[in-house]
Amino acid sequence: MLVGGQGTRLRPLTMSAPKPMLPVAGVPVTAHMLARARDAGIERVVLATSYRAEVFEEYFGDGSAHGLELEYVTETEPLGTGGAIRNVAGRLRGGPDDPVVIFNGDILSGLDIQALIRRHTAADAAVTLHLTEVPDPRAFGVVPVDADGRVTEFLEKTPDPPTNLINAGCYVFRRSVIDTIAVGRPVSVERETFPALLAASTPVMGYPDSTYWLDLGTPAAFVQGSRDLVTGRMVSSALPGPVGDCLVLAGAAVAADAKIGGGATVGARARVGAGAAVDGAVLFDGAVVEAGATVRDSVIGRDAVIGPGVLLDGVVVGDGAVIERGNELRAGARVFPGAVLTAGAVRFSSDRT
Ligand code: GDD
Ligand code: MG
Repeated sequence: MLVGGQGTRLRPLTMSAPKPMLPVAGVPVTAHMLARARDAGIERVVLATSYRAEVFEEYFGDGSAHGLELEYVTETEPLGTGGAIRNVAGRLRGGPDDPVVIFNGDILSGLDIQALIRRHTAADAAVTLHLTEVPDPRAFGVVPVDADGRVTEFLEKTPDPPTNLINAGCYVFRRSVIDTIAVGRPVSVERETFPALLAASTPVMGYPDSTYWLDLGTPAAFVQGSRDLVTGRMVSSALPGPVGDCLVLAGAAVAADAKIGGGATVGARARVGAGAAVDGAVLFDGAVVEAGATVRDSVIGRDAVIGPGVLLDGVVVGDGAVIERGNELRAGARVFPGAVLTAGAVRFSSDRT
């Protein structure tokens, strides 16, 4: 599982925690992904870490509490997706022809992992890619396939995509193919390894499916993923509570007349005051929403304070920031960790703050 990226598009949230460790519906993204892997019968996962590597092991330990055997391999300098895969080769078990499943660490998906492995084995492919269709493929790896499902090209982040079918960020590699990736330097599996395999006519298969799929790389996607987990649109056995209209974690205090809904999550120790509305938003642990405030489709960092009557819609607020009364922030606004927006400073903004 590749969990070493910087998570740049989720700043400022990723200034204090790596993207895969941000809580989505109450637990880290990685916890949902590991639960999917475990539920599919995978018993051992190697986490390829780099940025903020230590927090993964602190949270997951040896994996026994999550029903898995976990190992950690840390890159001192990030090696890119291909370099990260190559870097863990020594920790993989099994023979040269055995399948190794690789996960990008920021994906929620209903993929049937065993079906992907079966497709790979049946086709005797070098690599098999999970593919999904998205309306705008330009931010992804675009993957045309032929009538037999064989991949014909791999076009990472191309401005003029020939198809809406994209790399969904879960691959099966034949074990021996991993050993052909260059050692000790950054390698992008998307820009280097896949194109090279295709140029050499190595069999690379696609496995298109249309189950739930979301890359959590942007604030809007992050909020949506959390909502979908809470409401049960995306099923996860790691959800720390029943499916419903909202998820309120243990130790949170919500006023009786506050409205929490739309798949919102209220973190542990968080507080929501009288008459406040939290709609589809994610409140991290210890966040405070004061009386009469409205927080919609936003992410509120740990211990941040949203003042009385404040309106937030589509906003990211960093850990410990304070937004005093009389502020209104909308789509795309980001408040940095520890920042203080004094009373009435911002009425409307779609800019970075
Ligand atoms: N260990 C390690 N080292 N992990 C890394 C590194 C690294 O140097 N760089 C990135 N990763 C991890 C990230 O943490 C993430 O889990 C995964 O690799 C993919 O990186 P992203 O930064 O999220 O890539 P992306 O979303 O722009 O594109 C990738 O995913 C798309 C699907 O969501 C590509 O694989 C695309 O082809 C694909 O369509
Ligand atoms: Mg991503």
